[in-house]
Amino acid sequence: MSFKTGIEKTAKDRDSRIVLALDFPFQNPKNRKNLLAKAQDVLEAVQPYLCAVKINHHLVLPLGTFDGVQKIIRKIHDEGLLAIMDCKANDIGATNQIMAEYYYAAGFDALVANPFVGWEEGLKPIFDTARKLQRGVILLAYMSHKGADEGYGQTVYDPKTGVKTPQYISFAKKALKWDADGVVVGATHPEKITDVHEVLMERVPIYAPGIGAQGGTAEAALKAGARYLIAGREIALAEDQVEAAKKLRDSTR
Ligand code: XMP
Repeated sequence: MSFKTGIEKTAKDRDSRIVLALDFPFQNPKNRKNLLAKAQDVLEAVQPYLCAVKINHHLVLPLGTFDGVQKIIRKIHDEGLLAIMDCKANDIGATNQIMAEYYYAAGFDALVANPFVGWEEGLKPIFDTARKLQRGVILLAYMSHKGADEGYGQTVYDPKTGVKTPQYISFAKKALKWDADGVVVGATHPEKITDVHEVLMERVPIYAPGIGAQGGTAEAALKAGARYLIAGREIALAEDQVEAAKKLRDSTR
């Protein structure tokens, strides 16, 4: 089963389209054991309201991929959820391939990659590896932060055709051409979600990060065409994490 189909099924079975970004603030690296325990506790408490968990450098750097993070991935899978690595792969193909091989070997079901790097000797080796192992690749299309317009919002000119296209629309078209499992468009830019959805329709799902802490709302993102919502601090740093996760999940039903 492809990642795209797997998460669709998981979201339906669990009646949730929430992806938890399991992120925590910097801590003294000597306290790594506490960080691992905290991540496991939060995951266990809020898992009924999720379809997947996204891991970022917040955990990979202090805990290590094959030590702490792999324990978390096992727990994610034991709970019946999927695990996404937000590594935003953005290097030459040979390096991207090794990165993908390690993350998939650790058990991640999908990883996030940056289409700015291009196809040949860029993202192709990641897609080849993902297909061989039946894992997913999710592409950035328009990031959630304020400065995203400086790159993703540029207009690009194709000298072969003379056509000018917004960068993020060009990335959405690449997601279709490369058969990506999803694209990321910030919930903070619902109008960009609408534009990307017009290109992708239901063929490639849109993941929208930036809910809560960055100012995006679930309602606007879903209305614009997002399929999955990514929330981190809104849940992980809430006083009552279970309540925050349940509230967000319930707002999407
Ligand atoms: P917060 O706490 O803002 O965390 O809910 C969001 C999480 O998602 C990551 N993030 C993004 N990842 N494209 C991505 O692939 C984006 O546009 C984007 N915006 C935020 C962020 O690093 C954190 O893990």
